[in-house]
Parts: sequence; structure tokens; C-alpha cells
Amino acid sequence: MPRINPSILAADFVNMQRDLGRIATADLVHVDVMDNHFVPNLTFGPQMVGRIQDVSTIPLDVHLMIDDPDRWAPGYAQLGAHSVTFHAEAAADPVALARRLRSLGARAGIALKPGTEADAYLELLAEFDQVLVMTVEPGFGGQSFMAETMPKLRTLREAVTARGLDVWLEVDGGITEETIVTAAEAGADTFVAGSSVFRAEDPAAQIAVLRDTAAGHMSQPLT
Ligand code: DX5
Ligand code: ZN
Repeated sequence: MPRINPSILAADFVNMQRDLGRIATADLVHVDVMDNHFVPNLTFGPQMVGRIQDVSTIPLDVHLMIDDPDRWAPGYAQLGAHSVTFHAEAAADPVALARRLRSLGARAGIALKPGTEADAYLELLAEFDQVLVMTVEPGFGGQSFMAETMPKLRTLREAVTARGLDVWLEVDGGITEETIVTAAEAGADTFVAGSSVFRAEDPAAQIAVLRDTAAGHMSQPLT
């Protein structure tokens, strides 16, 4: 089955534990860390993520939209995050950082903004456990899906398949029951959804709808 990772950027920050309970049927909880430098928005840092880690019943998929991830990302792995994804545009040495994250027991992810091509990373794919293809400009929830990022996703899917790798391909931004079809067909297997899940009357039902819809349109069998 495809993985559905609700983004708690769309949760109520003063009712975080309650809202985590509403997405308990999800695969992982997507945690957006923003520093007001790499992106023009600010969320929270290690102290809050540590508390989310303490109370969440599902693993954490941490997405770091921050400068200098080489310095800060390992701390999130040390907190126990299942995966730690940093931005290619921000990292000084992505391969060294990915190796460090893996050595700390986390899955290592690299994220690409809509304008960042995948070409430079295709030969390095084995160094990562997941690639996050941003389908909006990072910084805010509730934006519209950018279909022009799909050729990059297809390129990544072809490269992962050709190399026989088990690298998850994740999309993030504007994912709804409509756009998830496009992303699944283009090769995504892991889907972040913020507004679509948390604005639903029944978040668990929406997670199920997204999962079933993606499963019906995946371009490849899931590992
Ligand atoms: C955007 C974040 C996303 C965001 C997605 O910078 O990385 O994870 O929460 O929100 P929606 O699903 O509302 O586009
Ligand atoms: Zn995100």
C-alpha cells in the first residue's frame, strides 16, 4: 500500500496530541520544521519535535526546511525520528549528512524544491532512503499542487527502478484525492497531505480515501 503521511502543519498547534490521535491510522506523521531563513515561515524546533516523538503512536517523518542542516539534522535523528529529510539546496555536503543520519539510525531523505532538478542526485540515489519532491514552494500549507514537477518525479522513478534501489519517492504540497492520482501515476509511493487530511470532517476516513486512490494508480509495486 502507498504511505500516507499527514502534515501536522495543518493541525491545531495547541491541541497537538488530540490532532495526532486523529491521524493514528496514518503511516507516519510528517513534521515540518521551518526556521524563517530557508523559508519565510517559522514553526518549531527540536524541543517540540521531541515532545511529538514522545506522544506519537506512529513514527515521525521530519522535513527540515532550514539553513545549515549539516549542523542541525543529526539532532532530529538522535530524538528518534524515523526519517530526517533535509533540503538539497541548503546542505553543504548532502552525502556526508545522509551517512551521518543513517549512522544514527534514521532514514536519510533529501528534498528538492520545485526549481531544483534531480540530475545531480541520480548517481547518488543509493546514499538516500527517500527523496522528497516538493510539489509546492516550501513554506506554507494550503497551496496548489504544481504539476510541472511531475517530469522530475518520473525521472527519479526511472532511476530508482533502473538501479534496483528501494528509495521511497515522496511528494509534498497540494495533495488531494485528485492530485494524488497524478503523483501516483508519475511514480510517488509516499504522500504528504496537510490540509486535505486535517480539514476533512473525518481525518481517518480521508487518509483511507487517499490511500485507496493512490493504490489504484501507482506506477510500480510497493516494496
Ligand atoms: C510545505 C510543507 C508541507 C505542507 C503541506 O512547505 O512542507 O508539508 O504542510 O500542506 P498541504 O498538504 O496543505 O499542501
Ligand atoms: Zn513538508
